[in-house]
Amino acid sequence: MQKLLVTGGAGFIGSNFVRYALEHTSYSITVVDKLTYAGNRESLRGLPEDRFAFVKGDIADAALIDQLVAETDAVVHYAAESHNDNSLHDPRPFLDTNIIGTYTLIEAARRHGKRFHHISTDEVYGDLELDDPQRFTEQTPYNPSSPYSSTKAGSDLLVRAWVRSFGLQATISNCSNNYGPYQHVEKFIPRQITNVIDGIRPKLYGKGENVRDWIHADDHSSAVLTILEKGEIGQTYLIGADGERNNKDVVEQILEHMGQPRAAYDHVVDRAGHDLRYAIDSSKLRSELGWRPVFSDFGKGLEDTIAWYRDNESWWRPQKAQTEAKYQVQGQ
Ligand code: NAD
Ligand code: DAU
Repeated sequence: MQKLLVTGGAGFIGSNFVRYALEHTSYSITVVDKLTYAGNRESLRGLPEDRFAFVKGDIADAALIDQLVAETDAVVHYAAESHNDNSLHDPRPFLDTNIIGTYTLIEAARRHGKRFHHISTDEVYGDLELDDPQRFTEQTPYNPSSPYSSTKAGSDLLVRAWVRSFGLQATISNCSNNYGPYQHVEKFIPRQITNVIDGIRPKLYGKGENVRDWIHADDHSSAVLTILEKGEIGQTYLIGADGERNNKDVVEQILEHMGQPRAAYDHVVDRAGHDLRYAIDSSKLRSELGWRPVFSDFGKGLEDTIAWYRDNESWWRPQKAQTEAKYQVQGQ
């Protein structure tokens, strides 16, 4: 394999993957991205022109996708509508991109016999009780809660069916919550960091007891490269770094790192259907493919992320006011 087609490479995790893969491998990469509100060409600035190309386009555009897939060795599929809150207010784009877009890609990969890696989420498994000793494994039954997670679950099942019925050369990974640079300010951690920079008190949904299993975006990227190169066709791998924390704890850590009182936040209206807890058991990926996360210190990773948002205000500032205006209408 020499050439990768990365869908959604102008988004948060896709752009981190592109930079990581260019630095750690010899692949040439073409990104196809529609540049929705969540995509930002600036996230891919300064990459080597001899190994990187950008195509603006929709993954549901069958003619464009057929041509791009024909020209590549493998597809890594990140493109999605990714935000739960948006899916609760306007689900339609989630069906168009996450379901029809994925269908368009796997049809092209099947026609051209190309390796395909599908990026998915732990949210397809629903949620866990706070005191449940179990974590999600590859055997956990699907039980998605939101329009977002149900369309991701649907896209996973399409990929599985294309493997079984059409021999698609695909693998799937389901990862927990990512943090790091280049994440849109609508998401929890960047929203609170940029709120503090702007003198706005952070907003916790409900009681703030919900638990997420945080992983640095670079650890997600190294796991995806491992699966792409060593994963078994037809298999699903869960990606996680043992980073369970409740939202209240994360907000308090952000406030402390930014020199504010730990209690200087507000509780706001809860998310409808809000999943209580996610937790990943990534033993299969670790034992079968030998992957290990590198970012074990969440506090240090959070500090680096805060520094990135302080140093890159020109990247996030254009989205901040409209994002907060949208949340204000929702009482959040
Ligand atoms: P993001 O919203 O930051 O980026 C999504 C990208 O996809 C954007 O650049 C957008 O322009 C592009 N896009 C959207 N619709 C498109 C279309 N129709 N055609 C082409 N491009 C399109 O999302 P993210 O947080 O980087 O998530 C990337 C992937 O990782 C998603 O599949 C998501 O489900 C999955 N994932 C995310 C997390 C997380 O914590 N953010 C965790 C696990 C899995
Ligand atoms: O688990 C993987 C998923 O993680 C990915 O599939 C999604 O694409 C990604 O967006 C993320 O989903 P979450 O819904 O967990 O992330 P979000 O950043 O929206 O919220 C994280 C937690 O913080 C969640 O419990 C809701 C809460 N929250 C969020 C915001 C924006 C708040 O308390 N306040 C906020 O202002």
